[in-house]
Parts: sequence; structure tokens; C-alpha cells
Amino acid sequence: MRNFTKLDSIIREIEYGLETVNDKTVSKKSEEFSQNDEILSKSDNIQSERIMRVNHMGEVCAQGLYRGQAAFTNDTDTKKQLYKMCQEEREHLKICHGRLDELGAKASIFNGLWYLSSFTLGAFAGLVQTKYGAGFIKETERQVSHHLDDSIQKLPASDLRSREMLGYIKEDEAKHEKTAVEMGSEDIPDAAKESMNLLSRVMKKITYYI
Ligand SMILES: [Fe+2]
Ligand SMILES: [Fe+2]
Repeated sequence: MRNFTKLDSIIREIEYGLETVNDKTVSKKSEEFSQNDEILSKSDNIQSERIMRVNHMGEVCAQGLYRGQAAFTNDTDTKKQLYKMCQEEREHLKICHGRLDELGAKASIFNGLWYLSSFTLGAFAGLVQTKYGAGFIKETERQVSHHLDDSIQKLPASDLRSREMLGYIKEDEAKHEKTAVEMGSEDIPDAAKESMNLLSRVMKKITYYI
């Protein structure tokens, strides 16, 4: 059997990144969420578009973060767990993309850049994995859950469908956080938490509009 070389791995990661940013498929799960009673008003539609674009970007970043960390960690269990989480995050990505389509909206034009930034951050986390590997996953999921609460609250009251989708995604993210806690790890330093928070705030601000 042919051994995979470093170059093969790099090519595979580039392919994966491109597939992620260009993934236009819709999750089967989307069929299970309620439809809204009425067509959204123009202003409500715009508000939902913005919120779902930010959440779609968040799922693009989750892919980048975890693929980056998995590519650089030497811990086999962490790597396995990260790939498993990536699959679940993939469904979130497809749900968010499907909803953006329904709302007649586009994903962020900067998703390629956001993916690359997240992959780099994940790679860094992978390199320091012995101490903070799972702590990084835990902090990511904690910030994501907090963000989802905020998104659900800001969605227009009339958009039950998007709210159900984000509620479902939030349940999965809570499971990811629990898994990371069970994997056992030191909490990452406060300065690292702050940097992650700052980076995500910049991304969210821009993605809200484009
Ligand atoms: Fe997710
Ligand atoms: Fe997650």
C-alpha cells in the first residue's frame, strides 16, 4: 500500500479547505425543522440573513480550526476526536448554507480568508497540544455556544425556522464542549481566550454585512 507523504497531506488539506468554502449542499436534517407561518417581512429577512451568514461563517471556521489542529497534533485520540467533530460541524455548515439559500442570501465573501485564519490558529493549538489540546476545543465550543444564544435572541420573532436550526446546532456544540472536558486538559491561558474572542468579534462584525 502506498504511504501518504507530507505533500499528499498538504494537497488533501488544500482540497478540504476549498470543498468547505464551496460546499453548497444542504443537510437532509433541514427537512425536519418547522417552516415559518408567514413569509418574512423585508426587514426581518435581512436580519435573519445577517445572523445566518455569521453562523455559516462560524461553521466554516470550526472546520478550519479543527482540521488545522488535527493536522498538527501528535495525540492520536485528540486527532480522532477532532475528525469526528469535523463531520458533525459539517452538518451544521450545510444547515446554515441551506437556510441562507432559502433566505435568498449569500455566504460571506471572506470565507476563504476566515478558513485560512482558523486553520492557522488550529495548527498552533495542535503544536502545543500536550498541554492545552482539549482546552482549546473546550474554549472554542464555549464561545460558540455563547454566540449561538446571542444569535437566537437576535433573530426576528417571525423566523421560527432559523431559530430551530440554531437551537439544534447549539445542542451539538454543548456535546462537543462536554467531550472536550472529558478528554481532560488544562484551560488555555486567559490571553489566548481573549485573542480568540477578539478575532471572532472582528470576523462576525465584517460577516454580518458581507
Ligand atoms: Fe458547529
Ligand atoms: Fe462544535
